[in-house]
Amino acid sequence: MPGAIYAEGLVKTFGDVKALDGVDFDVPEGTVFGLLGPNGAGKTTSVRVLTTLLQPDSGRAEVAGLDVLKYPNEVRRSIGLSGQFAAVDEYLTGLENIQMVGQLYQLSARDAKKRALELLEQFNLADAAHRTAKTYSGGMRRRLDLAAALVVRPPVMFMDEPTTGLDPRNRQGLWDVIRDLVAGGTTLLLTTQYLEEADALADNIAVVDHGKVIARGTSDELKDQTGGDVVEVVTHRREDLPAAREILERLGDGEPKLAEHTRRLSVPVSGGAKLLAEVLRELDTRGIEIDDIGLRRPTLDDVFLSLTGHSVDSGDDTTGSGQNTSAKEREQ
Ligand SMILES: Nc1ncnc2c1ncn2[C@@H]1O[C@H](COP(=O)(O)OP(=O)(O)OP(=O)(O)O)[C@@H](O)[C@H]1O
Ligand SMILES: [Mg+2]
Repeated sequence: MPGAIYAEGLVKTFGDVKALDGVDFDVPEGTVFGLLGPNGAGKTTSVRVLTTLLQPDSGRAEVAGLDVLKYPNEVRRSIGLSGQFAAVDEYLTGLENIQMVGQLYQLSARDAKKRALELLEQFNLADAAHRTAKTYSGGMRRRLDLAAALVVRPPVMFMDEPTTGLDPRNRQGLWDVIRDLVAGGTTLLLTTQYLEEADALADNIAVVDHGKVIARGTSDELKDQTGGDVVEVVTHRREDLPAAREILERLGDGEPKLAEHTRRLSVPVSGGAKLLAEVLRELDTRGIEIDDIGLRRPTLDDVFLSLTGHSVDSGDDTTGSGQNTSAKEREQ
């Protein structure tokens, strides 16, 4: 039986762009599914199809056991959605915004207010409850939008880049809210560009790129796909980077990755601690002084690099890929 969210062969084309190119996944009830990918990968398009906001060209999807194309109204009643761009009414206060959503869901005025106050507290917005949303900062709007999406604790929840634009404390706060929500039985699909976020929250992850799922599994399974550990070296002098890179290229299992401004090199390896010792010996022989060296488990960024040949920038850019590319080019 398909899970709480099910997609099969979803295709969606916009002009020349294949936003979705045959996307499949199946999310068991009561679990968190992370859709991870760079700008333009097809994350928002997937969410829009699953939440009935967009019709696919072909393919099939079910949410809470209901076909999204045949029963869009019933699907809408079973889901909560927090979109990539916060949808709040500028001229209402925070309290009024959430209360209005409660009343749309047929709560009494009193219950809607009670629930709104609870959520404002949970999202750290209690002090701003009576201010109009137009005076809110970007992160406050984001949190207000998320709070509004949680008014009725839907059985299936979609969050499109929920923590983009939140500071570390509020991001951590949202992670706690998400864990509570899922402990209460909700199934959650979240999209993210933050690799550590998928790592921390998602039971299962699908990595998407150019409208296709290029890898799937638990975070550990994905990490195992890179074939082992990663050796990381920080050289003391910038001039030593080419020589250090040559050593890692020879002893490692792939193309070393270089972050020039931090003088950090990393490469996947299969020899574990023994190989680390060998790298250290070679660096020493060549007289390359190092500030740091270590062996670590691969991050999802390493996974993405090994799958696609380019890394995901986990920065805060949500405006498009332009900035990311130039930042990456500077690094290489
Ligand atoms: N309404 C539309 N009209 C034309 N092209 C679109 C439309 N919606 C999405 N696209 C294109 O489809 C592709 C996938 O877009 P989508 O919004 O799903 O990406 P995303 O993974 O959510 O990216 P981001 O991380 O930037 O939010 C992109 O190339 C985008 O330009
Ligand atoms: Mg998006």
